[in-house]
Amino acid sequence: MKTKQFAFGIAVATACALTGTPSQAAEKLNVLCAADDQWCNLMESTFEKETGVDVSMVRKSSGEIFAQIKAESRNPKVDIWWGGTGDPHLQAAAEDLTVEYKSPQLDSLLDWAKNQAKDGSYKTVGIYAGALGIGYNEELLKSKGLPAPKCWADLTNPAYKGEIQMANPNSSGTAYTTLATVVQLFGEEKGFEFLAGLHGNINQYTKSGSAPIKAAARGETTLAITFMHDMVKQVKKGFPIKVVAPCEGTGYEVGSMSIVKGARNPETAQKFAEFALRADIQSLAADAEAYQVPSNASATVPDEAPKLSDLKLIEYDFATYGSSDTRKRLLKRWDDEIKSLPR
Ligand code: F6P
Repeated sequence: MKTKQFAFGIAVATACALTGTPSQAAEKLNVLCAADDQWCNLMESTFEKETGVDVSMVRKSSGEIFAQIKAESRNPKVDIWWGGTGDPHLQAAAEDLTVEYKSPQLDSLLDWAKNQAKDGSYKTVGIYAGALGIGYNEELLKSKGLPAPKCWADLTNPAYKGEIQMANPNSSGTAYTTLATVVQLFGEEKGFEFLAGLHGNINQYTKSGSAPIKAAARGETTLAITFMHDMVKQVKKGFPIKVVAPCEGTGYEVGSMSIVKGARNPETAQKFAEFALRADIQSLAADAEAYQVPSNASATVPDEAPKLSDLKLIEYDFATYGSSDTRKRLLKRWDDEIKSLPR
């Protein structure tokens, strides 16, 4: 009997040595990330190294994350949503799916990031910004004898039939930003006329926003509508991609971050939020080939980041286009009137 107890004691001691006692168990954090995979991975590994927190990071598109957080709201599994376009973050704030958190670093952020926090009742905050553009594979365009686009309006040219790729605005924040941009530029009726014309030239609506420019780099589509920083990444990799700032002007995103209401690890989520707002951490983005403009005024702006001040940016109305009613209504209208049209 004695021998048995002793043996059990050794077994427990060994198990504790191998796994740690429950009180020493690593802190955990579940993150949904809507930036590019490479940047998500860098954030995960850097935070884990610095804090010892065991991070589970999954990449999804902005609209998909919104839908997941909404679906799980009675039993949330995600602690923090990092990255992705600002509109669905604002919708999540308005629908009370996320919680107020006023970072002590708010004053270090640029105005557009603070405005995003104000618009979202401090349930979200801006972490980066980037503008939309038209990208094309120059070699493919030349070999097909197609004209180079300069304006949004050019994209309805029947010569581009089957040559343009963009994402689906339901799943992708990039594509929702595109939809909201053309509605703001042309008015809703004319904007939807443009989208109907564009639809005739689309070869595929992808799930993720940056997929179309990656496809253009591989020669699978000639033109793509994405954020310019995602185009720059392909240019840097050596692909023959040209970046166009549309002549009518363009919309932009305030990439955002929100802590989920009912998060299982709320303190660790705040720890991650503080980490993500720091200038030194935001300055790491270029190491992951992410070329957005960082929100912390002291962070290093990558040389490659498209200069927002050089672009003809629209006065993107985040409060309206990130509101539940407008986002739901525009997405339904796109599903009903555009997606179902023959191509
Ligand atoms: O690839 C990075 C990025 O363009 C971010 O700047 C943006 O917030 C995110 O992708 C949007 O991704 P999606 O369109 O898939 O929601």
